[in-house]
Amino acid sequence: MPEADVSKKEKNYFIDTPQKTPGYFLKGCGNLDWGMKHRLAQVFNPVSGRTVMLAVDHGYFQGPTTGLERIDQNIVPLIPNCDALFCTRGILRSVIPADMTKPVFLRASGGPSILKELSNEEIAMDIEDAIRLNAAGIGIQVFIGGEYETRSVHNMTKLVNMGMRYGIPVMAVTAVGKDMVRDAQYFRLACRMCAELGANVVKTYFVPEDFETITSSCPVPIVMAGGKKLPELDALTMAYNAVQQGASGVDMGRNIFQSDAPEAMMEAVNKVIHENMKPKDALELYKTLKCEKK
Ligand code: 5RP
Repeated sequence: MPEADVSKKEKNYFIDTPQKTPGYFLKGCGNLDWGMKHRLAQVFNPVSGRTVMLAVDHGYFQGPTTGLERIDQNIVPLIPNCDALFCTRGILRSVIPADMTKPVFLRASGGPSILKELSNEEIAMDIEDAIRLNAAGIGIQVFIGGEYETRSVHNMTKLVNMGMRYGIPVMAVTAVGKDMVRDAQYFRLACRMCAELGANVVKTYFVPEDFETITSSCPVPIVMAGGKKLPELDALTMAYNAVQQGASGVDMGRNIFQSDAPEAMMEAVNKVIHENMKPKDALELYKTLKCEKK
């Protein structure tokens, strides 16, 4: 049976050229399925291998925290300069314009407020809703050492099972209880456990000593959470040090949206993450942009 096309052009099967088998730019992700890789490549820039995720999910347990009182006013203008958004499905549906083209990681856990024991969380979203919302990924808190440690770990493994079914990556967020020591030993344990149990990305906090032992002992990409608001130079330095020591970017919230000039800070963080700009230069850029945007 002849082939159906009627083109007169001679066919070329490149018989002497082996098919290219591209590798994959993200650590530990080479054996994932195509859909999962494609989603991760929307979030992590394949050129720099890094991401600037904007975390605005805090309301799921904190309510309208400073800087997130009005997401339409405070956050929507920042979206063009992030690589991805990390938010709840409630905010996504009610406030984020559906014609924005950035990928979204959806917060998939919840339950207790700041008034109660935070580790007592459950999965708070069906995977079908994440698919309906075209999520690039889903994120969940894991409380290693917390009162409900086992429950939070099992929440994550259940979410990983759901994500694997549909090719949706899961980001485990290593949450630290008030009484716990935030050091490399703790985060090595928490990050490695999350990765071993199936998380595709791990979000964790920066520690000034031995952060590179956390990234090197975690077999999947790590993104750094910003934590509480710091002076801009300190936040830029922390982001710089994190990526220089092996993090694949940041998922930052308060240090961007609580800054005096969030749009300027967003641009400065971008330069640090994607172009290795030195923190002092990034601070100068921040100051210049801050004046221009006034
Ligand atoms: C809260 C979160 C936040 O997304 C995370 O803490 C990042 O925000 P910030 O940079 O403000 O710490 O996961 O549970």
